[in-house]
Amino acid sequence: RANVRKITTSSQALDGLLGGGIETRTMTEFFGEFGSGKTQICHQVSVNVQLPPEKGGLSGKAVYIDTEGTFRWERIEAMAKAQGIDPDSAMSNIYYMRAINTDHQIAIGDDLQELINKDPAIKVVIVDSVTSHFRAEYVGRENLAVRQQKLNKHLHQLVRLAEVYELAVIVTNQVMSRPDMFYGDPTVAVGGHTLYHTPGIRVQVKKSRGNRRIARMVDAPHLPEGEVVFAITEEGIRD
Ligand code: GTP
Ligand code: MG
Repeated sequence: RANVRKITTSSQALDGLLGGGIETRTMTEFFGEFGSGKTQICHQVSVNVQLPPEKGGLSGKAVYIDTEGTFRWERIEAMAKAQGIDPDSAMSNIYYMRAINTDHQIAIGDDLQELINKDPAIKVVIVDSVTSHFRAEYVGRENLAVRQQKLNKHLHQLVRLAEVYELAVIVTNQVMSRPDMFYGDPTVAVGGHTLYHTPGIRVQVKKSRGNRRIARMVDAPHLPEGEVVFAITEEGIRD
C-alpha cells in the first residue's frame, strides 16, 4: 500500500499490533468499554503526530472533534512535556472542536475539507466518540435504520478524507463487552455494534489490572490478529 505513514502511540507493543503505528490513509477505530483508554490514546496521538518522523511523528497537526466533553488541555500539556515538546506549541497545533449533537458533528465533518486545504499540516483527524450522539439521539428500534444511515454517511466521509488527504483518521466507539464476549464475537456487543461495515482497522481495548490495558486487533485486512498489553501512565500511553 503506497504512501502509508505511521504515527507512534508511545507504546511499542501497541505500535507493533498496528503494524508500526496509526496509519495514514486509513480510519482506525478504537472500541471498548468505559475507561479502557480510548480517549487517552486520542490525546496521545494528537501530541505524537507533532513529533518529527525520526521520533515516530509526521511533524503535523491534529484535529480533535470531541463529542463527549472529555478532552483535557492539561493532559496534552503533560504528554507534550514528557515527549520534549513545548506544551504551548503542542496545544496550538491541535484544532479542538466540540460537537454538541449529530447535526453539529456532521456539519464539522462537512467543513473539514476546507480546513485541511487551508492547513495541509493536518495529519490526523480524531473523533472521540464517533457514535455517542447518534446513540443518544436515535433511540429505539424504529430509529435504528436512519441512525445507521446517517452514521455510515459520516464515517464514509471520514474514510474519503483519509484517502484523499493522506492523513490518519481515528474514531472511538464505546461498546460494552460482557466477559464471555471478549473472546467471542466482538462485533456485536451490549450497547451497540462496532463500525463493522466501514473499511479500516478495528482495535478493541479492554481494562486489565491497574493501569494496564489490553488491545486486540480485529479482522484487519493486512495485519495479523493478536493482542498486546499497554499502560496508561502520568506521562501518557506507555508499554
Ligand atoms: P469512555 O470514554 O468512558 O468510554 O472511556 P475511555 O475508553 O475513553 O477511557 P479513557 O481514555 O478516558 O481512560 C480513562 C482512564 O485513563 C482512567 O481510568 C485512568 O486510569 C486513565 N487516566 C486518565 N487521565 C489520566 C491522568 O491524567 N493520569 C493517569 N495516570 N491516568 C489517567
Ligand atoms: Mg472516552
